[in-house]
Amino acid sequence: MEFVSETPGQTASKQLQQPAGILGIGHAAPTRVVTNEQMEQLVETSAEWIESRTGIRERRLADENVCSSDLGLEAARQALSDARLRPDEIDLIIVATLTPDMLMPATACIIQEKLGARKAGAFDLAVACSGFVYALAVADQFVRTRAVRNVLVVGADTLSRVTNFQDRSTCVLFGDGAGAVVIGPVEEGSGILSFELGSDGSGGDLLIIPAGGGKKPGSVYELTRPECCIQMEGKPVYRFAVSAIGEAAVKALEKSGLTADEVTVFIPHQANLRIIEGAAKRLGVPMERVFVNVDRYGNTSNASIPIALWEARQEGRLKKGDVVVVVGFGGGLAWAAAVLRWS
Ligand SMILES: CC(C)(COP(=O)(O)OP(=O)(O)OC[C@H]1O[C@@H](n2cnc3c(N)ncnc32)[C@H](O)[C@@H]1OP(=O)(O)O)[C@@H](O)C(=O)NCCC(=O)NCCS
Repeated sequence: MEFVSETPGQTASKQLQQPAGILGIGHAAPTRVVTNEQMEQLVETSAEWIESRTGIRERRLADENVCSSDLGLEAARQALSDARLRPDEIDLIIVATLTPDMLMPATACIIQEKLGARKAGAFDLAVACSGFVYALAVADQFVRTRAVRNVLVVGADTLSRVTNFQDRSTCVLFGDGAGAVVIGPVEEGSGILSFELGSDGSGGDLLIIPAGGGKKPGSVYELTRPECCIQMEGKPVYRFAVSAIGEAAVKALEKSGLTADEVTVFIPHQANLRIIEGAAKRLGVPMERVFVNVDRYGNTSNASIPIALWEARQEGRLKKGDVVVVVGFGGGLAWAAAVLRWS
């Protein structure tokens, strides 16, 4: 076995690092529940098909006047109160979203203002459904290097705005919601231990919203609305998801020096129960240690992992010292995993 010694400089720089972890969690979900039976009224499908292929039984859809920032703000307020922090104690706000309220300003700035976080910098981060875990990794860098003290990370999406409700192969899958965490200083040995980020742009066409950006501005394509909506090739995305989750989690665990046996709670992006089961099997984590709530929310993109974290803690499944692995994956194609020791 190769032994790699550290130089005195490396040891000193590690000592200067400030471990970063989750200080508070919040969540927000629209009150309107849409069941599989209700989806039967919209497209040619059956409640049984949806549940057996995806594990989804219902999803929550936002009213027309509710945007990602509204749900994100509610989740952010909860997370701050949970962390016992005032808005002016937040130094940076990162909003992971693929459905910003507008192209400009950033949704993070809208939340910053409504929250009254007057000392915070704010920016959006867009990596489709992997965004929340990417944002955790970014927040970790800021806190770890002591550049800032507290970062608010919000995952908020209103996928119903980019869903084609005439396309049965996609519309049954998605829901709206938001979750938020405050990342700040924690004691040595706890918090975010490692992460693994990856992407493969060659699969970009497999999960895509073709219009609405600079290439096909939304205003021009409004009449052909399906181009402004999510389009997906389900089977290759499914295969990608199962292998990406497993591999990202294994690599992140390796970096933390832990093994799958030591994982207390595995929280993959909630897109499809079969994908989650396949990934858990690949990783070697039994389903009792996997958190699943896709049945009640569908795929809420950037909101799925923080909502799951919130619910897992509510259920008493996150205790001090527990090893938690979170993995996001989706359009890009991209993926991201992080290993945390609960503090
Ligand atoms: C979409 C998905 C559930 C389809 O499941 P599947 O087991 O691959 O489905 P199959 O390919 O075996 O079946 C497809 C058939 O079901 C039909 N179908 C698609 N959606 C349907 C629906 N809502 N209701 C009924 N039938 C449907 C298709 O038209 C197709 O019919 P055909 O064989 O006559 O052409 C699955 O591929 C998937 O979950 N992919 C990943 C999606 C995802 O998570 N994306 C987001 C990542 S962040």
